[in-house]
Amino acid sequence: MEEILSQVKAYSEEITSFTASDADSLEQFRIRFLGVKGIVKAMMGEMKNVPVDQKKEFGQTMNGFKQLAEEKFATEKERIDLMGAGAAEQIDFTLPGTPLPTGSRHPVTLMRNRIVEIFQRLSFTVAEGPEIEDDWHNFTALNLDENHPARDMQDTFYLSTDPAILLRTHTSNVQIREMEKQQLPIRIICPGRVYRNETISARSHCFFHQVEGLYIDENVSFADLKQTLYFFVREMFGEDVKVRFRPSYFPFTEPSAEMDISCMLCKGDGCAVCKRTGWLEILGCGMVHPNVLKNCGIDPEKYTGFAFGMGVERPALLKYGITDIRLFSENDVRFLEQFSGI
Ligand code: PHE
Repeated sequence: MEEILSQVKAYSEEITSFTASDADSLEQFRIRFLGVKGIVKAMMGEMKNVPVDQKKEFGQTMNGFKQLAEEKFATEKERIDLMGAGAAEQIDFTLPGTPLPTGSRHPVTLMRNRIVEIFQRLSFTVAEGPEIEDDWHNFTALNLDENHPARDMQDTFYLSTDPAILLRTHTSNVQIREMEKQQLPIRIICPGRVYRNETISARSHCFFHQVEGLYIDENVSFADLKQTLYFFVREMFGEDVKVRFRPSYFPFTEPSAEMDISCMLCKGDGCAVCKRTGWLEILGCGMVHPNVLKNCGIDPEKYTGFAFGMGVERPALLKYGITDIRLFSENDVRFLEQFSGI
């Protein structure tokens, strides 16, 4: 009995001096003293060893001991709970937040969208087609039959098991596919990725992006082509930019032209970007060749049309002052994130 009472005394002192540092240490306290296998239960279990005449006194001592432990637990719990709430209230709302990383559009996408959006204002609608194409839609239907020398300028990647399957060299394949549907008139803009078997350098890549356009209806003339492209240049590059057409050759258009704009960097005086000519080559264009219309089942006596095609990377390089086309496809976040505000 004496021994037990001195133990209880020692435990009571431990309880009295206890302060919980956090919810965990409070829980440890609860398990140690008030748990099913805890000290309070164990001490009370000693009742059976206490002589009958001392049972009453022992019982009272033990009730006091239990109460001490319970009260300590309750006050500490209240204090810890308050501390938690206090910690929440102590958040300093004036501190700058942790910035969330925001995504951004790729510069090529930004430029493509700008081009497309200008033509949409002239009622052109977007048409898309496959990047893996057959020989007919990429070459033959466009008046480039198998032995045409112009095919050399658009060498691409072929399937070794079936050379009639290739990666398209331009988005003109979409124009053929749309013409084959024979729902006239056609007024489409065709953005997309194209491929060429070219050595990769700062200025050229084996894949790049194009936007091509096609307008077919009765009485479409070269004047319509020029007017459409003048509008595009004004909207895209501004009022002050001059335009010139140079005669050119494409197998799928006749007559054909290349369109240059005056260099906006040197204002036509000549600089490194325009190779001292004062002009920048922007796109190829022309009146759709009658053979191409025939290949798609359209009557060239009744319908005429114009087509044009431009690269997306070149104007993006100019607009954003980028000097190496390879940056567009390296996926370096340090490069790409610079366009997030644009
Ligand atoms: N398809 C041509 C190219 O990729 C561009 C072009 C399109 C030229 C339409 C004239 C008319 O080079």
